[in-house]
Amino acid sequence: MTSRISLDDAVHLRRSIYQLTKTSTISDDRIVEIVQDALENCPSTFNSQSTRIVVLLKEEHTKFWKVVEDILKAIVPADQFEHTAQRLTGFSGGYGTVSLTFWLHDDKPQADRVKILFYEDPEVTKGLQTKMPLYADKFPGWAEHTSAIHQYAIWTALEAEGLGANLQHYNPLPNQKASEIWGIPQEWPLIAQLVFGGVAEGARENLPKKDQTPIEKRLFVHGK
Ligand SMILES: Cc1cc2nc3c(=O)[nH]c(=O)nc-3n(C[C@H](O)[C@H](O)[C@H](O)COP(=O)(O)O)c2cc1C
Repeated sequence: MTSRISLDDAVHLRRSIYQLTKTSTISDDRIVEIVQDALENCPSTFNSQSTRIVVLLKEEHTKFWKVVEDILKAIVPADQFEHTAQRLTGFSGGYGTVSLTFWLHDDKPQADRVKILFYEDPEVTKGLQTKMPLYADKFPGWAEHTSAIHQYAIWTALEAEGLGANLQHYNPLPNQKASEIWGIPQEWPLIAQLVFGGVAEGARENLPKKDQTPIEKRLFVHGK
């Protein structure tokens, strides 16, 4: 993987960018490569490789946010919908959405994980929990941690390529419809949506300051 800036710089630069454009600094193939790289290399509990990712680009991305809008329109009071609609228009104005979902375990080859249509055998998960009953109740939490690691890796990698992104949690509202449209197994819980696109002019100005809690209250080093 070749990034235009160092990992350190990308960690420093990564922010929640809400003003996005429908452009990309990199090819769709490179976007998919970044996601595939994360799936292949991020750590996961007991190397279960539980994360499943659906990448929606251009029209498919716009379609996803239309689904969310239609669902919200039906449940949000009309006088409060304007604010919601503005936010959704911002997301829809991006280039793509990376939807992160997880399942607990499988032995399928990598290629089965990056396609939109997946099949997952729940028997494998049950097998894992049966094999390690001591950790059975821990697996769902650890799967969330594993998902978060993927979210951050991809967010930072997109930043390194000059793209902007923000993280959303409109699940479970669009789960069923998304499952119908993109053939995602209904049993997969949707964890988060990473919206990304070109960084609109001025989008990095006036971002909230990061230094809220003093670092000495958060970082404790011994033995240096
Ligand atoms: C677990 C988690 C959940 C988040 N959920 C949302 C969300 O639902 N909507 C949103 O706009 N931002 C969400 N964020 C982004 C944070 O609000 C943001 O990262 C934080 O304010 C720091 O700003 P920065 O991303 O610019 O560094 C989430 C971040 C994390 C780590």
